Amino acid sequence: MFETLILAAGKGTRMKSKLPKVLHKIGGKPMLRHVIDAAKRTGSTREVVVIGAGADLIKQEISDVEFVMQNQQLGTGHAVLCAKENFANSTGTLLILCGDTPLLTGESLKKFVAAHEKSNCAVTVLTAEMPDATGYGRVIHEDDGTFKKIVEDKDANAIEKQIREVNAGVYCADVRKLFGALEKVGNDNAQGEYYLPDVLTILKSEGEKIAIYTADFCDETLGINTRIQLAAADQIIRRHKLQELMNSGVTIVDPGTTFVDCDVEIGQDTIIKPNTYLEGNTTIGEDCEIGPNIRFTNMKVGNNVKAQFGYCHDAEISDNVTIGPYVHIRPGSKIGQNVKIGNFVEVKNSTIGEDTKLPHLQYIGDTDMGKSVNVGCGTVTCNYDGKKKYRTKVGDNVFIGCNTNLVAPVNVGDGAYIGAGSTITKDVPKNSLAIARARQTNIADWNDKRK
Ligand code: UD1
Ligand code: CA
Repeated sequence: MFETLILAAGKGTRMKSKLPKVLHKIGGKPMLRHVIDAAKRTGSTREVVVIGAGADLIKQEISDVEFVMQNQQLGTGHAVLCAKENFANSTGTLLILCGDTPLLTGESLKKFVAAHEKSNCAVTVLTAEMPDATGYGRVIHEDDGTFKKIVEDKDANAIEKQIREVNAGVYCADVRKLFGALEKVGNDNAQGEYYLPDVLTILKSEGEKIAIYTADFCDETLGINTRIQLAAADQIIRRHKLQELMNSGVTIVDPGTTFVDCDVEIGQDTIIKPNTYLEGNTTIGEDCEIGPNIRFTNMKVGNNVKAQFGYCHDAEISDNVTIGPYVHIRPGSKIGQNVKIGNFVEVKNSTIGEDTKLPHLQYIGDTDMGKSVNVGCGTVTCNYDGKKKYRTKVGDNVFIGCNTNLVAPVNVGDGAYIGAGSTITKDVPKNSLAIARARQTNIADWNDKRK
């Protein structure tokens, strides 16, 4: 049993961004979301998040934690102190995480917490060997190998800067001992900040034991301070996601050009072809062929769907549907089983019944379309009069001739036929034929007379 405190109040100056740093996304999700999810997966019983810069934006994005304000960002030690009251009644272990260290998995954190709880130390600090330690606090050992202190990059001398073992910014602490010593932390350093790592030195000087836990999961300890590190973390998380999918039976033809957000689910024997983006909470069934050149955002896709060259978002596609090339399926659409949507088709906020064909050049908006409808090339639903949107209803087994305009609101009954080139402004009863176009006139020998 342990509680978690996450530090996320910093502005992230080095990001040079209007957005608070912890809301920048990797794998399609804000960094802070990754950190909270990892804590929850570790078995934490409560998560408190210290926020300050961009607090309102963070609260809009995240709601399943307790927040505490740090109004002035005076350093990581001060940030923890801001949560003193929140943990006034707590005993046992407090896990401290940083909102800008998003790659740590629940599994790794579990090992870390378990090691701390076995150690009987006041604090355990997570450290990692970094190929490039620039920007991190360096870990200094005593001659006997035990913890001595952490020196921040900006305070480090030339020799200390050579050290590649860094503080990952993740700690397990005896919560009572931690808050007992925190107020003794000063700010006499290069940045004039209250450094959390200094509390370790203070506890040590008071006779407490400090443990070092060296991660065997170094690439998870990457801290994100710059957009270059953001891109590096994004690549790592996406590579892991693709590996996880391939290990579960999904073919990824070209991992280099396939971008799958971390919450996307894909069924067995689905093949993902190059230049494909699967975003948000998209789920895809089994035996599909997705791509090349597909972007799916928040899509629910059934089994055996084939899609190429298209953008589909916030919509549902049932089993055995074929999509593309060059298709845009927009929010609120539900595409029934065995539907074929061909080239240059847009569907918006519409239901398309089973076995219906939309083979080429259609705009179908705000429409409820039945089963086995054949929609001719160039059909357009005229759903907007400049002020309001209206719905079109098309029954089952309807045949719509090429280049038809359906001026909504309008209903076309089951089994109706519409002649090519019609502009339908009135309801079409079931099983009838509607033709709404000017009759053709042929003027004999017109060209001769013209001369
Ligand atoms: C910190 C550590 C450093 C460690 C590194 C690991 C300190 C002093 N330094 O440095 O030893 O190697 O993390 O990535 O702790 N924050 C607040 N309030 C503040 C300041 C920071 O909430 O007043 C939050 C930030 O939002 C961020 C986290 O604390 O999520 C770390 O702050 P940051 O400024 O990024 O620290 P680093 O310089 O990376
Ligand atoms: Ca940092």
